Amino acid sequence: MGHQRASAVLVTGASGEMGHGLLGSLAAERAVGGPAVIAVDIRELDASIRAKCDHAFVGDICDHALLERLLAMYEITEIYHLAALLSTRSEFAPETAHQVNVGGTLNLLHLAAEQARSHGSTVRFFFPSSIAAYGMPDLKTKHAARAVDESSYCEPHTMYGCNKLAGEHLGRYYSAHYRKLAKDRIAHPVDFRSIRFPGIISADTVPSGGTSDYGPEMIHAAAAGTPYRCFVRPDSTIPFMTMPEAIEAATRLMRAPAARLTRCVYNVASFSPSAEDFAALVRDAFPNAQIDFDPDLGRQSIVDSWPAVCDDSAARRDWGWKPTYTLDGAFAEYLLPIIARRYGVRTATAGRHAGAPRLEG
Ligand code: SER
Repeated sequence: MGHQRASAVLVTGASGEMGHGLLGSLAAERAVGGPAVIAVDIRELDASIRAKCDHAFVGDICDHALLERLLAMYEITEIYHLAALLSTRSEFAPETAHQVNVGGTLNLLHLAAEQARSHGSTVRFFFPSSIAAYGMPDLKTKHAARAVDESSYCEPHTMYGCNKLAGEHLGRYYSAHYRKLAKDRIAHPVDFRSIRFPGIISADTVPSGGTSDYGPEMIHAAAAGTPYRCFVRPDSTIPFMTMPEAIEAATRLMRAPAARLTRCVYNVASFSPSAEDFAALVRDAFPNAQIDFDPDLGRQSIVDSWPAVCDDSAARRDWGWKPTYTLDGAFAEYLLPIIARRYGVRTATAGRHAGAPRLEG
């Protein structure tokens, strides 16, 4: 049976933006006696990320042989399934996106269920879903809607959104109903937990292939001294949060007692700036920033279909979620200090940040 295999947490998409953030916190748990951390990514991990893992596999999550190998080597107790093609990239190759985003998720859920069968305990599974799971029919409805809860407007306009919604449903199925009619069925093999994340902004990395990328791109471009052409209108508004908040949310949800959870999928919310709000803060910090707005109709329509504000009351109630930052606080306390250091530049101390700590120079 499983007694010779090392117990491990598996992270897919480990070299992506969220993987960078998450591996830091898993490595900290590992250092104080937590389980081994094993990573899978289609690309070789860079050295700093590799150092945080016990074992890194380069491979495709659609490759059954790779997953079988993992199963043979490790007793996997938790999975963070982060690998995905983001929304803009997925629209250029929707069928491939489906294979990776849904097919990959199905493989990982199957792996989790097989692991549960082999070691006899439920495997906890984290799935990052997205505001892309929503589809507001038009701008008028979006602006009239106010905070959107998890069950409303789930008619996504993108393949990525359809894939995320499918992943949520598959997770719920593997948790509660997997192989309902099988004689050798095991009840509740997977404990599936998911968060519909807003756009995420990291001070350390820039995203690739997403549609909320204009937020992080704008600030990193200004710090790098590069002109930025924003692909959405100034009034475009969707929710965002910082990467540390996203990692805190994922780990907090994964540590929550199962009895406290009333659903599989939760919204979380921090702040909801317009693209112009974002640009104003970037210009405050980098007075020479060149930011133009040149909306791309297709990407604009995707952003317009995402809600402006999400209702996170279930997450607050069930597992104590609360955001760390306001928009101003995120700039002053997290983004600007780290980004300025990273690019070796100074930021102007802006009056707009009144009340927030002064920036490091
Ligand atoms: N940030 C993602 C994207 O833009 C949304 O989940 O695709």
